[in-house]
Amino acid sequence: MAQLWGGRFEGEINQLAWDFNASITFDKRLLDVDIKGSKAHATMLAHQNIISEEEKDKIIAGLDTILGQVKSGKLAITTSYEDVHSFVEANLIKLIGDAGKKLHTGRSRNDQVALDVRLFTREAVKNTQEGLCHLINVLITMQKENLDTYMPGFTHLQKAQPITLAHHLGAYVEMFKRDALRMSDIYKRMNYCPLGAGALAGTTYPLNRDEVADILGFTAPTLNSMDSVSDRDYVIEYLSALSIMQMHLSRFSEEIIIWNSNEYQFVIIDDAYSTGSSIMPQKKNPDIAELVRGKTGRIYGDLFGLLTTMKGIPLAYNKDMQEDKEGLFDAVDTSLNCLTLFTDMIRTMKFNKDIMKKSAMKGFTNATDAADYLVGKGVPFRDAHGIIGRIVLYCIEKGVSIDELTLSELKEFDLHFEEDIFDAVSLETCVGKRLTKGAPGKAVMTKVIEENEQFLAKYVELENLDKNILNLG
Ligand code: ARG
Repeated sequence: MAQLWGGRFEGEINQLAWDFNASITFDKRLLDVDIKGSKAHATMLAHQNIISEEEKDKIIAGLDTILGQVKSGKLAITTSYEDVHSFVEANLIKLIGDAGKKLHTGRSRNDQVALDVRLFTREAVKNTQEGLCHLINVLITMQKENLDTYMPGFTHLQKAQPITLAHHLGAYVEMFKRDALRMSDIYKRMNYCPLGAGALAGTTYPLNRDEVADILGFTAPTLNSMDSVSDRDYVIEYLSALSIMQMHLSRFSEEIIIWNSNEYQFVIIDDAYSTGSSIMPQKKNPDIAELVRGKTGRIYGDLFGLLTTMKGIPLAYNKDMQEDKEGLFDAVDTSLNCLTLFTDMIRTMKFNKDIMKKSAMKGFTNATDAADYLVGKGVPFRDAHGIIGRIVLYCIEKGVSIDELTLSELKEFDLHFEEDIFDAVSLETCVGKRLTKGAPGKAVMTKVIEENEQFLAKYVELENLDKNILNLG
């Protein structure tokens, strides 16, 4: 056991307590950001004449060596260390001697871990954003190919009015745009540097917190040292945003599962994203979509785990906060896997356009348009609604759709019907005439797609700027 705090203790810690207390098995994932933060700290300490230039150079070279050795497998991160911070410090001292003992000057593991988690989360926020942009891009491409692909729009999972596939996909474009924008919001709000907060009350060393913030690409240092070491709001915000994103992915997955069912047959999922049954040879199951839907529960769990952990913690740092990491790591891995697989699954999915169109033609999706036709002929809407309702009942008994009736049959219900009714209730007219902004009519859809392409171009540009900031230091 190589702990950083031996001096005050006379007895040995119980082995089970050591294991229970340690975080090395999971926080080793923070090695990169821990070293990045330590290099910035050492650079600043030297500029402030708290350590010498020579000591700083040794420290930085030592830290790079440790990182290199871990990456190459030469140095193992073992459970004899309490956490990643202890591992780095102990190995630095082993490697460069006394200079290594100066790295922790003016710093506590409390502000150190606060920085590490922030750097890790900031990177994850960026990766989520990139994944979302990719998904939006794929959806926009699919939309452009399906402006005339008719399908039924549903309410209550009952056929309601005809729409196009482009329009249906467009609903998800809007959801994923909001998800991507949420990442930007979180990024802006969280991008403040907690290092220099010390254990909780700052330090008496003349640290230059602005310099460290600058080196690490933060907007500025945080403004209250107690908040700096206790704040995990940004992780909670990120997990909330991931939960919302995952909820969107899950709804979409649910639709794909329905569309893929034998009853619907709207889509064919590529073999690369389907699985079979060990007993039923005919089966091709939408397991990836089901798992994306299923893993949503796990991400919600990660969010609720941290919310609950944080709710009773008095200021400032308490060991409970070590529990922030596993849920965060799990949510990052799970959600990025879901995003990547989902995007590729829909990109390679085939649509049975004929079946979709036939489905839109059945189920009286044009009933509203038939009523609107009568309104156009001077019938008040409420009366028109009643007339078409009676026609629908008649059609159900006959087993036909409205457009399959003859003009004389229609005239039995109302004399305002003329030959032009058939054109008025065709799919093409029903969709094509819906030209209010946000509706499925081709002319307005095309404009919205253009708008979203511009959004994406601007957005990606913005994120590239952020990426440059992230690469500093
Ligand atoms: N492993 C700890 C964590 O993840 C690091 C901070 C330890 N600080 C302390 N005062 N024991 O939270």
